[in-house]
Amino acid sequence: MQIQKNIQIQNTFGIAAKAAYYTEIYILEDITDCLANKEFKQYLEQNKVLVMGSGSNLLFTNDYPGWVIANKMYGIQILVQTELSVIVKVDAGVDWDSFVAMCVGNGWYGLENLSHIPGTVGAAPVQNIGAYGAEVSDVISSIHGVNLKTGEPFEYGKRHCQFAYRNSIFKQELANQTIITSVSFMLQKDPEGFLNLDGENLDSLLKLAYGDVQTELKRLGGASLANLRTAIINIRKSKLPEPEDLGNAGSFFKNVELPRAEAEALKLKYPKMPVYPVKGKPELMKIATGWLIDQCGLKGFRKGNAGVHEKQALVLVNHGGATGNDIVELAKHVQQQVQAKFGVAIEPEVRFV
Ligand code: EPU
Repeated sequence: MQIQKNIQIQNTFGIAAKAAYYTEIYILEDITDCLANKEFKQYLEQNKVLVMGSGSNLLFTNDYPGWVIANKMYGIQILVQTELSVIVKVDAGVDWDSFVAMCVGNGWYGLENLSHIPGTVGAAPVQNIGAYGAEVSDVISSIHGVNLKTGEPFEYGKRHCQFAYRNSIFKQELANQTIITSVSFMLQKDPEGFLNLDGENLDSLLKLAYGDVQTELKRLGGASLANLRTAIINIRKSKLPEPEDLGNAGSFFKNVELPRAEAEALKLKYPKMPVYPVKGKPELMKIATGWLIDQCGLKGFRKGNAGVHEKQALVLVNHGGATGNDIVELAKHVQQQVQAKFGVAIEPEVRFV
């Protein structure tokens, strides 16, 4: 295990921030070594240890006065494979989209709607990444890791993880207390293409509900696993900025879950407002926060070097040289505007450090 000091922290927002201590984890023994280190233990007791993947959902508001652990565990292992399904165990440091590409290449169904999302496999379950009608929790079978407080390894089944919209136990009661080392996924297969002969079966494997997705698939020549991945990539590229070009952390805010009566009252006042059902919670409805921000006239709005993305108002961007606090100030402004116009409180999805 190599301990580095005063190291610039990689993050997709492109914010300049340094970690007092920084260690990359490649094998399980590296975690044991950290836990045996006196200084590391002190930081842990003060709640100053941050486990990160590629920093695609973090906003650094300052230098980090603690110990950053960057997970670089890279293995992929097939645990069980039958004609119909596969269970694959993937180390936390594997790049998310490389893994999705591998699944699509192998004809494994389940993750294609989550194509082209920046980040690592270990970070995906923490905020239960989701897009175009799919959430990663749909296909997770278990999560493996080490509890940093006890030093004990764990394997949690899906139920234990308390997955919800952009949420899990790792963001709540276990926040900063575990390091996820690998994730097991159960994916479906399409043996010898026979499901393709039966449209219904293919439909049940592919999630095609989004209008944008259907339009793009038609343009690409029809629904298939590979075309669906291409369609999702094309749609995301058309709406969302690439972190290499424009610093960002994807959706900065969450969509708002409101009690049904409140959502319906707002919908009466604003008939064009997009409103969706919430999976498993009939008492709630989800409102598109991007639409609310857009209606406040904030798309493309700029405050210094921080801005609201011009094509998707849910995304805040760093036009170059913005500090974490510039982004925080812009986020507050956006929240105030939405509150004033709609009486709705919107919450960040990105984690502030
Ligand atoms: N809308 C606007 N103006 C905007 C943005 C959105 O009017 O500036 C409207 C759209 O026209 C649409 C609705 O709001 O009617 C929803 O927009 P969109 O389909 O783009 O999705 P979203 O709800 O804004 C969520 C996820 C995205 C994910 C997309 C696609 C969250 C916080 N975000 O965005 O996830 O890609 O759905 O499924 O749930 C991410 O988490 O980083 C992310 C990009």
